[in-house]
Amino acid sequence: MQFDTWTKALAELPIDCVAVGVQDDGELTPEAKSLDLRCREKLSRLTKRGDFSGKPGETWLVTDLEGIRAERVLLVGLGAKADVTRKTWRRTVVAAISAATRTRVTSLALALPRPGAKVLSDERLGRSVAELTGNTLYRVNDLKSAKKPRPPALGRVVVAAAAKAEASVRKGFKQGEALANGAALMRNLANLPGNVCTPTYLGKTAEGLARTHKSLKVKVLGLPEIKREKMGCFLAVTQGSEEPPRFIVIEHRHPKAKGAPVVLVGKGITFDTGGISLKDPPTMDEMKFDMSGAACVIGTMNAVAELNLPVHVVGIVAACENMPDGRAIKPGDIVTSAQGLTVEILNTDAEGRLILCDALHYAKRFKPEVVIDMATLTGAIVVALGVHHTGVFSNTDSLARELVDCGIAADDRAWHMPVGDEYGDQLKSNFADMANVAGRDGGSCTAAAFLAKFTQGLTWAHLDIAGTAYQGGAGKGSTGRPSAMLLEYLLRRAAH
Ligand code: BES
Ligand code: MN
Ligand code: ZN
Repeated sequence: MQFDTWTKALAELPIDCVAVGVQDDGELTPEAKSLDLRCREKLSRLTKRGDFSGKPGETWLVTDLEGIRAERVLLVGLGAKADVTRKTWRRTVVAAISAATRTRVTSLALALPRPGAKVLSDERLGRSVAELTGNTLYRVNDLKSAKKPRPPALGRVVVAAAAKAEASVRKGFKQGEALANGAALMRNLANLPGNVCTPTYLGKTAEGLARTHKSLKVKVLGLPEIKREKMGCFLAVTQGSEEPPRFIVIEHRHPKAKGAPVVLVGKGITFDTGGISLKDPPTMDEMKFDMSGAACVIGTMNAVAELNLPVHVVGIVAACENMPDGRAIKPGDIVTSAQGLTVEILNTDAEGRLILCDALHYAKRFKPEVVIDMATLTGAIVVALGVHHTGVFSNTDSLARELVDCGIAADDRAWHMPVGDEYGDQLKSNFADMANVAGRDGGSCTAAAFLAKFTQGLTWAHLDIAGTAYQGGAGKGSTGRPSAMLLEYLLRRAAH
């Protein structure tokens, strides 16, 4: 995909298609009016006739207009007259791109009303256009045997930019492309079935990244090395599976990076049956997405490397299956974490925190400035926040607030959730230092509190993405979230 800016008059633009906005009262935007004047008011006659309603997201393709250079004009509905917000702008952009992909349009100019510079800077305009294009063109990597439909012809997207804004918009394009590529990588990994996307597969994928990007160093630990690290909790989860576990470390270190690294940690349960505390069948297939955190770490490392950001970032992935088996852990079993704390496993389905606690402990050797883990950790976060916000938990309120703010800026929202001793106290065990579950109350908070016990001395945040990382139902699949929020966070650090 090629992204470009243009400065000329719209009617002179040599392009396959121009997308312009129309309100639901038929009113054309100034850009649409400028075209209308050149083509003997064909557009306004069309809207007056009422063929095109101008409802938000609706589109109408007009071809062979005389007087303008573009071969087609795409009318995009804006709805009622109102201020353009970033949300409404994103919706119109997606509507335009997605309409273009259903035609043989090869190049598209977006001449849609955009929000003011305070709401959408030139750089963010570029980033969002490339991000939305990538996300809209993304096709699920299904394993259907039928021949795939023809891919969209769209290969070029251009936006208007004043000469002095061009450099910023272009910089944004690069960021948006890296973001979309990272999110697509995440989605592809997460969408693959558990029998394909195994821990071994994730390890190989990470090694592949190191071959593509010379800034990346990758280390993949297998069972013997994991044993050497005494990751008793991680080992407890993997012991019921025939699939060998992997502990993956991906490092991007730019020579200009200042300060201690940011460590990203991802939950990589490639399939979560619940183990002996077996899950109910109806939606168990969705537990192939239980490695979404890991996939997001891998996708984000790809984006960081693609942009060669002047930062030091380490991505850590703990990957294994959670299976019931003759050798599997049983409720009541007590194991010893790498940190030395003993854990009574009362519920084998609370496995995410078990693999993460050892990964968080491992992160300490990098003496990180910040550690952020991401995990499809609890069903309780879906009850609390639904599918719209990622849950952010942190032992440092300012970090949580920063992440929430990044989520707002990147249109990948998150909500600050509590984590504290009160929740940690609910994890008391008669037989070990702690249990791996508390009661039903505040389930995502007690899960975070469990992790907090392994993050002493760290500035740490935990993202519970069980509600946001994938969709169920008809459009089942990975969403690519929270890649945008994370990249926003890392871009801000790179700018310091
Ligand atoms: N992977 C699940 C969490 C999950 C549930 C993600 C639903 C997405 C949708 C996790 O391993 C799990 O099973 N958590 C348990 C914890 C409980 C046993 C304390 C849960 O949420 O039920
Ligand atoms: Mn589970
Ligand atoms: Zn799980």
